Amino acid sequence: MSDIKSYIENNKERFIQELIDLLKKPSVSADPAYSQDVLNTADAVKESLEKAGCDKVEICETPGYPIVYGEKIIDENLPTVLVYGHYDVQPADPIELWDSEPFNPVIKKTDLHPEGAIFARGACDDKGQMFMHVKALEYMTSQGKLPCNVKFMIEGEEEVGSESLAWFVPRNKEKLANDVILISDTGMIANDIPSITTGLRGLSYVEVEVTGPNRDLHSGLYGGAVANPINILTKMISSLHDENNHITIPGFYDKVEELSKEERAEMAKAPFSLENYKNALDIDAVYGEEGYSTNERNSIRPTLDVNGIWGGYIGEGAKTVIASKAYAKISMRLVPHQEWEEITELFKKHFESIAPKGVRVKVTPHHGGQGYVMPIDNVGYKSASMAYETTFGKKPIPQRSGGSIPIVALFEKELGSKSVLMGFGLDSDAIHSPNEHFGVWNYLKGIETIPYFYQNFVELSK
Ligand code: BES
Ligand code: MN
Ligand code: MN
Repeated sequence: MSDIKSYIENNKERFIQELIDLLKKPSVSADPAYSQDVLNTADAVKESLEKAGCDKVEICETPGYPIVYGEKIIDENLPTVLVYGHYDVQPADPIELWDSEPFNPVIKKTDLHPEGAIFARGACDDKGQMFMHVKALEYMTSQGKLPCNVKFMIEGEEEVGSESLAWFVPRNKEKLANDVILISDTGMIANDIPSITTGLRGLSYVEVEVTGPNRDLHSGLYGGAVANPINILTKMISSLHDENNHITIPGFYDKVEELSKEERAEMAKAPFSLENYKNALDIDAVYGEEGYSTNERNSIRPTLDVNGIWGGYIGEGAKTVIASKAYAKISMRLVPHQEWEEITELFKKHFESIAPKGVRVKVTPHHGGQGYVMPIDNVGYKSASMAYETTFGKKPIPQRSGGSIPIVALFEKELGSKSVLMGFGLDSDAIHSPNEHFGVWNYLKGIETIPYFYQNFVELSK
C-alpha cells in the first residue's frame, strides 16, 4: 500500500485547502449565536463524506445539533469500523490573544512544526483530525483499497457534553453496529515519538453559588459583621485540597484504581523532560499531588480544578462593596472505577456541609462521564500499533491521557465495542486555547496511517 504516499503527495494541496474551508465555519456549539454555522458545518461534513465515497449519508436529527452519519458497506461478512469525531469547536475567546483570526485559517511554521501548521479554532480539536479519516476513506474507495465496511458518526455537541449523542446511540444500536470504533481526538508525545492513547479520564462538572445577604452591601457599614460570599467561597474552595494536594472530599478516593509498581515503572519509561515542560509553560516549578510524577498527576490521578470564579465588582476603579453572591465552576477529572454521578453527589454533600452559618450554598451539577481504558492486547490496539510502526518506523508507546471524551465509555456500554484512540495532535497544539493549530505533517501522517489500521484490523480479525 505504499501508493498511499504518492496519493497524498499528489493531492496534498487539495487536502489542506478542503480542511481550511471546513475550518472557516465557526461551529461553536456552546454559543447559540453560532447555531446556523453549526448546522452549515454538519452539511459540509455530509457533503465531504459523499464525495469521499460513502454510499449513504444522512443528517440525523436529535433534540440538539444533528449527527452526520455515513456508511459504505461492501460485504456483510467483513468487519465494520465505526469512525467517530466531532465537527463542533470550542469558543474562540479570548479573541484578543489570537495572532490571527480564529476562523480565518493561516499556515505558519513553528519550532515543533517546521513544515507548517494550520492555525484556526478546531484545527486539531477536532476538525483536522476528523477530516483525516474522510481523506483516508477517499483514498481507500477511489483506489479500490477499502478492505471492510465503514461507518462514520460525526457529532456536533462534543464540546458541550455530547447530550444528543447519548440520546442517539441507544436508539440506533443496529445502525451503529460495529467491530471497532476508531477515533482521532487525542494527541501523541512528539512527531518522532509516536504514542497511542490507552486511557481517558472521566469528568464531573459542577457550578456552585454562595449567597450571603439579600443585596450588595456597603463594605464599610457592613464589612466585618456579615459573611462575605466571595471570602467564604474562596475559603471553601481552598479547603478542598490538603497540604499534600490531596482532595479532601470524604470518599473521593474510595474507588480510585491504584496502579501496581510495575505499571508505574512502565509509565515512567515514556520520554519526558521536566525542563522542557516547565519552559514551554513558563513556570519555575510544577505543582500537584504529593507522591506522584507529573505524568501520573495528569493521567492516572483524579483532580479538582476551579475553571471560573466570579462575583462582586470587577469594573474600572474601585467600588467598596460586599456582593450578595459569589460563583464558581468546578471540574473534577476522574480515573477508572470512579463513578461520575457518585462523585458529583459526594461533592455536593461535602460542599454543602462545609458552608458556615451566614451563607446559603447551591450546587448545580452540569455534565459528566466515565473514564476509559483500552487494554493493549486488544485487536484494535494491535492494528493501530502496527499501522504506526509502518508509517513512523517505530513502535508507538501506549499512554494514558488526562483529557476526557465521556461518550467513549457510553459507546462501550451501549454498543459493546472498544474505541481505538489514534490521536495525531501534540499537547503544544493549544487546543481550547488561543492560536490552536495542527501540524500539516501530522495531518498528512494521519491520513497515511489510517488505511493501514483498516488493513491490519481485517487481517487480525480473520
Ligand atoms: N478532544 C478533546 C479531549 C482530549 C484532548 C482528550 C486531548 C485527550 C487528549 C475533547 O474535545 C474535549 O475537549 N473534551 C472535554 C470534555 C467535554 C465533556 C467538554 C475535556 O476533556 O475537557
Ligand atoms: Mn475533541
Ligand atoms: Mn475539545
